[in-house]
Amino acid sequence: MLEGTKISTPSQMSSIFDIAKDTVLFLLLSCYYILESLFWTLVPNIIRPMKSLKDEVVLVTGGGGGVGRQLAIKLARLGAKVVLWDINKEALEKTCAALREEGHEVASYEVDLADRESVYKTAKRVKEEVGKVDVLINNAGVVFGETLLELNDNAIETTYKVNILSHYWTVKAFLPDMINSSKGHIVTVGSVAGLLGTYRCTDYSATKFATVGFHESLFTELRAHGHNNIHATLVCPYYINTGMFDGVTPRLMPMLEPDYVAETMIDSIRKNEVNCIMPGSVRYLLPLKCLLPAKMCWDLMHRVMKGPQSMMDLKRKPKVA
Ligand SMILES: NC(=O)c1ccc[n+]([C@@H]2O[C@H](COP(=O)([O-])OP(=O)(O)OC[C@H]3O[C@@H](n4cnc5c(N)ncnc54)[C@H](O)[C@@H]3O)[C@@H](O)[C@H]2O)c1
Repeated sequence: MLEGTKISTPSQMSSIFDIAKDTVLFLLLSCYYILESLFWTLVPNIIRPMKSLKDEVVLVTGGGGGVGRQLAIKLARLGAKVVLWDINKEALEKTCAALREEGHEVASYEVDLADRESVYKTAKRVKEEVGKVDVLINNAGVVFGETLLELNDNAIETTYKVNILSHYWTVKAFLPDMINSSKGHIVTVGSVAGLLGTYRCTDYSATKFATVGFHESLFTELRAHGHNNIHATLVCPYYINTGMFDGVTPRLMPMLEPDYVAETMIDSIRKNEVNCIMPGSVRYLLPLKCLLPAKMCWDLMHRVMKGPQSMMDLKRKPKVA
């Protein structure tokens, strides 16, 4: 489906002259990209042209609770046609009631993202009942918060099914229509735990690392095949105060609020940003893990940040059968 635009094959790129020409062009363009990026960083959102989401169909998975609920409310206020997916019927109903109270229309679907067939069936229903999805936000996620040896095998599989495999099914279901209409946006919700391995998160962190690879590879496929009007955004937030990491008290930085996370995510989507790391300061710390000696990184993590110690207070989640 992504094929259709010609890209250069290695044999077409082999001559030294071509390499030199491409390198010079790349360096010139890099100057422009850096200046452009600096310029947009300095321009406040209020005067920056941002994509309108009015009348756009925006699907949010995990829209019943936490960040998903905040996204739903804010997107509806921007005039988007909101479609919510969640496994939790009660939470879905509460979010829908909040939206309807403000006079917004909303379509909601109870679906288990861990069940591939159910995802495909629900996607078909959305297309028939609501229409083409313009923005897909793969937001739902689960964490069990156990060490590797404590983790139940089914819990590990559920984490993989919900946190990463479901992204394949939803993107496969909705991307073809985006390609046909030459317009769309796929948002992948990862985590800072997907950039830095975290205690009691061998399953969770691994699936969040996978979201990074998923997003980056999908992005290259879209661009390599000329689908420049289909955008992809990766969102990697630090701890958020939604209850997912209840009990954890990070030492150096307080948890983010779901309202702030949803607002920042929507701004990022409206700016067609490729990466959205929250808070932004984390971006400058991450390269240290490759640059510093491993022992120093561990010392920084457990002595200064007390990352593992704070995760030890994570309230246990219900056991999976
Ligand atoms: N909370 C944090 O500290 C934090 C930090 C970084 C990233 N994230 C990520 O942000 C996203 C949102 O997290 P949150 O804090 O709002 O979580 P949350 O637990 O508050 O909400 C997640 C929603 O997903 C739904 N969901 C769970 N399993 C599902 C399934 N099988 N099928 C359909 N829906 C399902 C839940 O019912 C819930 O409404 C997740 O991807 C999470 O991994 C969270």
